[in-house]
Amino acid sequence: MKMTEKNTLQFADPKTAINLIKSGNRVVIPGAAGEPHYLIKHMIENKHLYRKVEIIQFMAFNLPFFQEDMYEHFRYNTPFVSPMSSNAVASGYADFTPCNLSQAEWLFENKLPIDVALIHISPPNEHGFCSFGTNVDYIKIGADHAKVVIAQVNENMPRSMGDSFIHIDDIDCMVTCQAKIPEIMSADGGPVEMSIGESCAKLISDGDTLQLGIGEIPGAILKYLRNKKDLGIHSEMMSDGPMQFMKAGIINNKKKQIDQGASTVSFVFGSQELYRFIHNNPSMNMMPTSYVNNPLVIMQNDHFIAINSCLQIDLMGQVVAEMIGNKQISGVGGQVDFVRGAAMSKYGKSVMVMPSTARGGKISRIVVNLSEGIAVTTSRNDVDFVVTEYGIAELKGKNLRERALALIAIAHPDFRDGLRANFEKKMAS
Ligand code: COA
Repeated sequence: MKMTEKNTLQFADPKTAINLIKSGNRVVIPGAAGEPHYLIKHMIENKHLYRKVEIIQFMAFNLPFFQEDMYEHFRYNTPFVSPMSSNAVASGYADFTPCNLSQAEWLFENKLPIDVALIHISPPNEHGFCSFGTNVDYIKIGADHAKVVIAQVNENMPRSMGDSFIHIDDIDCMVTCQAKIPEIMSADGGPVEMSIGESCAKLISDGDTLQLGIGEIPGAILKYLRNKKDLGIHSEMMSDGPMQFMKAGIINNKKKQIDQGASTVSFVFGSQELYRFIHNNPSMNMMPTSYVNNPLVIMQNDHFIAINSCLQIDLMGQVVAEMIGNKQISGVGGQVDFVRGAAMSKYGKSVMVMPSTARGGKISRIVVNLSEGIAVTTSRNDVDFVVTEYGIAELKGKNLRERALALIAIAHPDFRDGLRANFEKKMAS
């Protein structure tokens, strides 16, 4: 963190603020609900000021950097591709840098030193501390390592608790705004997601600590946990579902070994109700990813259950969660961090979830061989449970033949015979 000279600019107009960014700078910005749209709008309007400014971000939600007239001014580089950035990455106009989210700090310290952090924070309290609000994750680390910190100070940004604060003396320039924090709503899952949710719930007991992502499957899992008690949360992100469980007292974090009484998360993304919930709420422990995603921290909670989604699994148990064919559509995020943390947790489990088919039932996601050129996200050595709408396959400790049989048993029935025949052919060759 910059603890040197007090800066003189402090509250400024947006043009003055973005003038601190120079051509060739590497600029880190927050993702998801934390995107600083007011500052970015002014960067875009003044794009002629910049050549080859490198933008580092995990998870673009609503960004204007992906049009052809932007590419000579801004080069986007992400460890987590999203639907917004995937075409630019595929066509070579943006870059993808593989990296576990737990290692963002290492990345900024060793390989991608940050010139400027554009942050999105709450107004200062009476002691001069602003909160990173919805997104502490990698952006607090980015701000700690940046030479220059420019802040979008938003009255609507909640004041989240935890390691979530930056002092105004450590900010070079602040621009005030009153912008609505972006929301995202998960659709209710259909019958496939509900079956997956029901199976996952069988792996979860009273008192367990959970890592859940966003989307229809985590929402479906929660529907089957209504009768559980004393659940805990330690998760890279949190959306509305767990908040409702906290309000209902089903998640109370009482049985955790660390951060007892609080849900530990690095960012939230959901409704305005969620953003109001994290405001001044010490039961929400918002921490950087260097803590939340660190397997050595995750493992300290016993009975840790990590639940992550994936796209394809081969019969050896190799998990693909970031690519479809040759196209990068996502990133590892915290998947491997949490799989490994859960593996080291006493009585921990990790669960990979996916519907058994894709493309409207035309293709099986359980395959004999992975698609050519595709990257493995979670290795067969780390995979533990796999759940589809046809049940649960426990892979850890099983030999290759047992794994194949367990996975074929949870494949879609239309594909089981073909998988079995091709597996036998492969084994015989
Ligand atoms: N082959 C071809 N197409 C496939 C496919 C496959 N094997 N698997 C999925 N698809 C298609 C689906 O049909 C769907 O298409 P549609 O939108 O036209 O219906 C699309 O790809 C998305 O698949 P879906 O299963 O709905 O993806 P999702 O939104 O649930 O996201 C991941 C799944 C794996 C991409 C996402 O969870 C992710 O990014 N994971 C990696 C990071 C991670 O685990 N983070 C959590 C740690 S905190």
